[in-house]
Amino acid sequence: MKNREVLWKAFTANRDFNNEPKIFVKSEGVYYTNEDGNKILDGVAGLWCCNLGNNHNKVVDAIVKQAKEMYFSPPFQIGHNLELELAEEIKSLSPDGLNHVFFTNSGSESVESALKMALAYQKALGKGSKNIIIGREHSYHGVNFGGISVGGLVNNKRDYNNLLKTCHIPSIIDMERNAFSRGVPEFGSEKADFLQDLINLHGSENIAALIIEPIAGAAGVHIPPKGYLKKIEKICKDNDILLIFDEVITGFGRLGTPFAADKFDIQPDIITTAKGLTSGAMPMGAVIASEKVYEQIVNKSKTPVEFFHGYTYSGHPLACSAAIATIKAYKEEKLIERVASLEDFFQEQIHSLKNCKNVIDIRNIGLVGAIQLSPRVDNVGKRGKEIFELCYKRGVLIRPIADTIALSPAFIISKEQLSEIFDVIKEVINTVD
Ligand SMILES: Cc1ncc(COP(=O)(O)O)c(C=O)c1O
Repeated sequence: MKNREVLWKAFTANRDFNNEPKIFVKSEGVYYTNEDGNKILDGVAGLWCCNLGNNHNKVVDAIVKQAKEMYFSPPFQIGHNLELELAEEIKSLSPDGLNHVFFTNSGSESVESALKMALAYQKALGKGSKNIIIGREHSYHGVNFGGISVGGLVNNKRDYNNLLKTCHIPSIIDMERNAFSRGVPEFGSEKADFLQDLINLHGSENIAALIIEPIAGAAGVHIPPKGYLKKIEKICKDNDILLIFDEVITGFGRLGTPFAADKFDIQPDIITTAKGLTSGAMPMGAVIASEKVYEQIVNKSKTPVEFFHGYTYSGHPLACSAAIATIKAYKEEKLIERVASLEDFFQEQIHSLKNCKNVIDIRNIGLVGAIQLSPRVDNVGKRGKEIFELCYKRGVLIRPIADTIALSPAFIISKEQLSEIFDVIKEVINTVD
């Protein structure tokens, strides 16, 4: 065993990493400092999560204060006041009608919880045959068994079984018609019609829910074309199918509105969240359920414990304290409005890379964007990896997704810092064959 092999890292090329580990030792705002003492400008908010930047003083203070008072409280049959306060804070940002908050510890757990809610809801209505859940190709819903079953990224599922009854609508990416669109692309709303085809094939009496990322993030930033989500919403409603919006990336302001549901004027039945909820300070997720889902599962339940599901760390006091401070900071520092005001600048900057070497598409919305490069023949992902390494050496952190470079900076980033990120990426792309 080599000396680092005691550690088995998640979603990492462990052998490469161990040969040349990149170690962060400190962070402040939008910068990391690595072990060599170099500052790294963060273009991806850690991993789409540190929306306030890192080590925000109000969040740090809240965690420290709570840790001294009580860092754990049993989650089942016992409560504490911060979980209620946080649920109220989340409700205050959520779309109307989404009023009930269930706590988890991650995006994957939020997805599992939401899928169970959908099945429990249909069962409670006496519609137990409604047990298929529809997902979409090229979608990411975390790594647990429900999430990979409804997810649409083959590498995440090829070694494991599908444990849920699922089927998938097609991907929304359409580079032939939509390459280099600014914001929402023009073409492709008809792709929503595949949902009706799937319903016709399986029967709406057998389908519980559709889960969808309003913006597919981890697949490489796929943005829904004009009118697509509205059609999806209508087909779900017409066929008595619950609509679950997976807002693990988009929730809490990344598109310049509290949720993507606000941006696209959609009324989902359930929203899943994590990441931006605590700005990455503590592991936490939340599922936000509509009145009708809560009413059916909880208030009409025939068993004392209405929903047989939960985690030891559901509503953990330290995570609650971090999330309350985070949401207050979003509000007090007007950071969601800041995303909206930075969107045009971000768009101009990212599209200025259009003529760089090998760039075949650029996509953006809110403070999310992607620069897609053509893959090398027989070596998909190598070009993206090289660009990532070179940007890192020049002090900028990006996220390579095969040969797509994804960006999702913190809401506090300045225009100068954004320009610096794009200048470095531009320079690097043009040096890589
Ligand atoms: C849309 C979506 N759902 C779920 C997840 C899983 O979240 P986690 O890694 O916190 O389990 C992610 C993570 O990127 C995500 O983007």
